[in-house]
Amino acid sequence: MSCDLFNLDGRVALVTGGSKGLGKAMARGFAEAGADVMIASRSEDELKAAAVEIGEGLDVKVEWMVTDMGDREASDRLAAETILRLGKVDIVVNNAGSNTPQPIDQIIDEDWDRIVELNLTSCMRLTRAVLPGMIERKWGRVIHISSVLGLGSKPARNVYSATKAGLIGMAKASALDLGKHNITVNCIAPGPILTDLPMSLLNDAEKKEFSKMTALDRWGTPRELAGPAVFLASEAGSYTTGATILVDGGAYARAL
Ligand SMILES: NC(=O)c1ccc[n+]([C@@H]2O[C@H](COP(=O)([O-])OP(=O)(O)OC[C@H]3O[C@@H](n4cnc5c(N)ncnc54)[C@H](OP(=O)(O)O)[C@@H]3O)[C@@H](O)[C@H]2O)c1
Repeated sequence: MSCDLFNLDGRVALVTGGSKGLGKAMARGFAEAGADVMIASRSEDELKAAAVEIGEGLDVKVEWMVTDMGDREASDRLAAETILRLGKVDIVVNNAGSNTPQPIDQIIDEDWDRIVELNLTSCMRLTRAVLPGMIERKWGRVIHISSVLGLGSKPARNVYSATKAGLIGMAKASALDLGKHNITVNCIAPGPILTDLPMSLLNDAEKKEFSKMTALDRWGTPRELAGPAVFLASEAGSYTTGATILVDGGAYARAL
């Protein structure tokens, strides 16, 4: 049985970093709910394969575009191309992100600037680029993928936590800017989710430690992001704005 509140028939969703991990899982969730989808990342091969998986068995359009969101011109190009191919953007998910852990006394300016550009500035740019159509149609959903490390942190996660906390602050300000246009702006703050990103950064002991920090005593799966993303993107989320939804297996419930 499906619920109309979560139906995305006729909607168009744009997901950065949609070729794998959380982005691909959320894009699949939107497609299952009925939306046409555009995914963007840097690897053509991964995008092609992901587009097939996202659309498999569904009667929706799935488009992809090779895009480096660290490039200042990328957001405008991606927004324009999505509108050209799919007609509009109703839902934007600023998901592409990266992390280069460095303790505060060892930060390299170039790494700091690159991560700020990708994790924070590109999210502002892409949101700004898709807003005119949303404002005109008086309907829009902006979802930033933050992190529990935007609320708390760990050693050496300086730029990562700064950008992920920045998204939470930006979501609040832009929710206030855009409420009058019936556009909601929210963050999802995932905890440890089994994807290439944390797997490439953590050793085996840290991987175990991360699952022990959750109430559910396990890593999450990318699929577990799909439901919260569809909620925020659909009519079900129409009165939720400026919020940050934790999807962290209860990791943030622990005080000590
Ligand atoms: N997994 C977790 O535990 C976790 C927890 C909290 C928050 N998050 C956040 O969730 C988001 C997705 O992460 P993930 O875990 O799904 O990582 P992932 O599996 O490594 O996927 C990252 C996606 O972003 C794309 N990407 C990276 N750099 C890009 C760039 N410069 N331009 C365009 N696309 C780019 C990647 O494709 P290409 O590399 O081919 O471009 C890929 O599609 C990130 O913002 C991350 O900070 C993840």
